[in-house]
Amino acid sequence: MILHRSLLAFLALALIAPASADDAPKPPTPLYETRAEHDGNGIGKFFMGREIAHVMGHQAADWLERPQREAEERTDQLVDSLKFREGEVVADVGCGSGFISRKIARKIGPTGIMYGVEIQQEMLDRLMTNMKKFDIATVKPVLGTTTDPKLPAASCDTMIMVDVYHEFDFPYEMIQNMIAGLKSGGRIVFVEYRKEDPTVPIKEVHKMSVVQIKKEMTAHPQLEFAELIPTLPRQHIIVFKKK
Ligand SMILES: C[S@@+](CC[C@H](N)C(=O)[O-])C[C@H]1O[C@@H](n2cnc3c(N)ncnc32)[C@H](O)[C@@H]1O
Repeated sequence: MILHRSLLAFLALALIAPASADDAPKPPTPLYETRAEHDGNGIGKFFMGREIAHVMGHQAADWLERPQREAEERTDQLVDSLKFREGEVVADVGCGSGFISRKIARKIGPTGIMYGVEIQQEMLDRLMTNMKKFDIATVKPVLGTTTDPKLPAASCDTMIMVDVYHEFDFPYEMIQNMIAGLKSGGRIVFVEYRKEDPTVPIKEVHKMSVVQIKKEMTAHPQLEFAELIPTLPRQHIIVFKKK
């Protein structure tokens, strides 16, 4: 009987114990580094060897809606390749004016939920004006902070960042808080201009390599690399899953 009780206690402990120590976050120390010598388009703050870019101001939002964007970036192909299902809960983190949000909102349909997350209220205002214009009612605006997207816990199937992650002032904290908002098995999708390709006409600190993104995600062992979709003309699509 004593043996039986201790076996039960062991099993109960195993069930309530947190995920294995291998899944504990592994932030680098120091987390961030400031360098006096740096790219003028960056903020002089580095994460795991990469300089963080300036945030794109809302004053430049028309660039996100430029007519030639579809031909340059093939955003329809981007959205198709991620195979969104009807009824999915998706967060477009750093949604800007909602160019990508509205394409995804059409895929997930009226039963889906699309959170449009921004740190600039002016972008959220544009997002909602555009959703009204395109008659899409499933987008919910969320004003986040530079460390936290302020999403409900374990609520999202997919979180996507299109041309956003490299601008995060606090990339480690943002991804940790995004993981908290993801369902188990949910996806975090990075869409970033290819740093490996010098012909991509974008400023250097606004591009990212696959190697660097994978390196930065080693700080978040709750995530595992899922796939690299190489089909876009200028950007990587890199998908991680929450274990
Ligand atoms: C280059 S724009 C891309 C907008 C949109 N994803 C698109 O492709 O049309 C980057 C956006 O990310 C937002 N951003 C930067 N850091 C953020 C953060 N920590 N949380 C949410 N949004 C952020 C900026 O305010 C800006 O609107």
